[in-house]
Amino acid sequence: MDKEGTQLIRGLEGVVAAETKLCDLDGRNGRLAYGGYDIEDLARRASFEEVCHLLWYGELPNAAQLDKMTLALIAAREIPADLVQAFRLMPKATDPMRVLQAAVAILGMSDPDTTDNSHAANIRKAIRLTSQMATAICAHHRVRSGEDPIRPASDLSHAGNFLYMLTGKRPSGVVAKAIDASLTLYAEHELNASTFTTRCIVSTQSDLHSAVAGGVGALKGPLHGGAGEAVMRTLMEIGEVANVNAFTEKAVADKRRFMGMGHRVYKAGDPRATILKGMAEEACRQSGQFKWYEMAVKLHARINEAKKLIPNVDFYSAPLFYSLGIPVDLFTPVIAAGRIAGWTANIIEQYDDNRLIPPARRLHRPGAPRVRVGRQAVRPLCPRASPRSSSTTTSSPASRSPARKSASRSIRCCSPTPTARCPGSSSRRWASRAPCPRAS
Ligand code: COA
Repeated sequence: MDKEGTQLIRGLEGVVAAETKLCDLDGRNGRLAYGGYDIEDLARRASFEEVCHLLWYGELPNAAQLDKMTLALIAAREIPADLVQAFRLMPKATDPMRVLQAAVAILGMSDPDTTDNSHAANIRKAIRLTSQMATAICAHHRVRSGEDPIRPASDLSHAGNFLYMLTGKRPSGVVAKAIDASLTLYAEHELNASTFTTRCIVSTQSDLHSAVAGGVGALKGPLHGGAGEAVMRTLMEIGEVANVNAFTEKAVADKRRFMGMGHRVYKAGDPRATILKGMAEEACRQSGQFKWYEMAVKLHARINEAKKLIPNVDFYSAPLFYSLGIPVDLFTPVIAAGRIAGWTANIIEQYDDNRLIPPARRLHRPGAPRVRVGRQAVRPLCPRASPRSSSTTTSSPASRSPARKSASRSIRCCSPTPTARCPGSSSRRWASRAPCPRAS
């Protein structure tokens, strides 16, 4: 606590920055609910479309409302041809999350409500962007794979259509349900880093697309949504179930960070991980890739024994997504395709009761006690003062090469223009005699 009564809270841990009706997270008891509905119930019994309705309108839809929501999402699935053309122009090796961030920004350029931040317009934009993001992820993947994008199928659910646009095959009901439940499990998680990012952005009265583009950027990091991809890469590095013990021992000794393990809020267990574990078991068995599930279970047990860490949502989603045929670098975009529902719901909530969010900060000097830092005048910088002294004292062969000599000669003139004068000297060749005022 400092004199002003403020306290430095690293990572804003435990700081209450917003009120929400969207999500109730009980970290101590490992429980999570959206709008008063337990996450397990939603994942098993509701579709992603219903969850979108719950988050955007505050209630699960009745049959007529669900029809309306479903039709609105289907109607918004197409993306502009210009966006597909932009994918064609992007470097093939670009990380799909970077592409997605750009795609969201591009979609904002053609959205009819781009600059309308009213509640009704934000709902319309949330519906459109949720559908378009799914199409954009798949279209970009097809383009980078040298294939043409697949037009959305209007008779498939949001999850089923996603898999269809990605692979060109109509998924089985079981596979579509696995993706649908995953989207639901990732849809919302109160003030996580990416959601907080979106709220910060709209708190400036920026717009929904700008906020979501920022959210995608935050989600991309390996300590957030990028962890699932990192889990799969770890499992691939381990290779076989028999290697798990040796891997874990070495990783613990090397103080390695275990991706998909640990959580800021859940200390007893992440309820989403428990559900995804069951789904991963089933999907890995069905697809004949049970070894990834077995390896994940063993790794989980060893890490828990060694570090007391619990698996978070990204741990078992890795073998699940992999066994469903999702390319590893699309794991995080799939998470974004679910989280868009929560981001947009939070954006709408923030807009409905907005206050600008700049948190307080204090100047940090490593190792020093909290002090008021005195003010000092900015002294002019003398261009090239330092390089000259170092280059003229060196006697390496490189410094005697013609190129090096010419570089050395060119820095003799310290002044960017012949008429400029260094304040420390009256001569144009001041650098050799007077020290630069900012050098020490
Ligand atoms: N592997 C190894 N050690 C871990 C760890 C992990 N996954 N998670 C936490 N720890 C350790 C830290 O090394 C640290 O130890 P220390 O006090 O000896 O230095 C301690 O636990 C606290 O770590 P910290 O990062 O401050 O905890 P946090 O509560 O802020 O971290 C996460 C939460 C999610 C960032 C962290 O658990 C993590 O990095 N997990 C892996 C990334 C991940 O799965 N992210 C997705 C989250 S949904």
